[in-house]
Amino acid sequence: MVEATERLAAAGVSTPRLDAECLLAAALRCDRAALYGRLEVLPAEAAGRFAALLERRAAREPVAYLTGTREFWSLPLTVTPAVLIPRPETETLVEAILECLGDRAAGPLTIADVGTGCGAIAIALAVERPEARIVATDVSPEALAVAAENARRFRVDGRITFLRGDLTAPLFEANLTGALDALVANPPYIPTADLEALELEIAGFEPRLALDGGPDGLAFHRAVAVAAPRLLRPGGWLAVEVGAGQARAVRSLLAASPGLAVHAVVRDLAHRDRVCLARREAAG
Ligand SMILES: C[S@@+](CC[C@H](N)C(=O)[O-])C[C@H]1O[C@@H](n2cnc3c(N)ncnc32)[C@H](O)[C@@H]1O
Repeated sequence: MVEATERLAAAGVSTPRLDAECLLAAALRCDRAALYGRLEVLPAEAAGRFAALLERRAAREPVAYLTGTREFWSLPLTVTPAVLIPRPETETLVEAILECLGDRAAGPLTIADVGTGCGAIAIALAVERPEARIVATDVSPEALAVAAENARRFRVDGRITFLRGDLTAPLFEANLTGALDALVANPPYIPTADLEALELEIAGFEPRLALDGGPDGLAFHRAVAVAAPRLLRPGGWLAVEVGAGQARAVRSLLAASPGLAVHAVVRDLAHRDRVCLARREAAG
């Protein structure tokens, strides 16, 4: 373990001990917690798997792609290189929209998750709100396949419809105009020119499609701000995740969209502005 940790540290990995433990657990096909007590003898096959995983991690491939899983909202989700690795800060969006929706049990909820990736947000909301029906979209068929597999694993596939298409177009095609209680999105929001400067784990391995937010990073927020008032029912909620320094601009975009009223900007656990919330104004 000491050697493995040193190997990863030398390769510039920021959490070498933790990552070495995760990879050893993956090689042994057990939990990280179960590692303790079985470190003495490493079977030859597992040793081979561990060595191969370490080399890939030393080349800065993310642990989640190597183990094929990442926990989100306490759900161990399957991830592949076709999807963004779900981030803990996106749980702020889940929390915020659940709070907006309140405990309203009367009638089913209809929620759309645009750019669902591995399905993290859609599945967390489906688990939390058993009365919700969710439509989750993505332009990537590979991402939708991963999301559908995750929905099956957590037994919410009967309540999530996955649609392929550009941004909110599949929602209009599915006749959801004026029908949504909530529209949520964690869109790609890195300005194109900043992509190459991201750490190697992101720039070299995560799908560009999941990261690139256009010249100023706000191309998707702009489109969602325009479409949201047509898709939400009066009183329906919009929650969009934002990147560093984007909250003020996104707030203005939402405020400028006729029919939307900005509700709040919510901070994540690191006290960074992370989610912009708006509400469809009542008709009339
Ligand atoms: C930042 S990732 C978010 C993934 C997931 N919602 C999460 O929070 O982990 C953005 C997602 O938007 C998808 N995407 C990119 N361009 C899109 C477009 N034009 N229409 C729909 N989805 C798109 C990407 O494939 C990716 O899955």
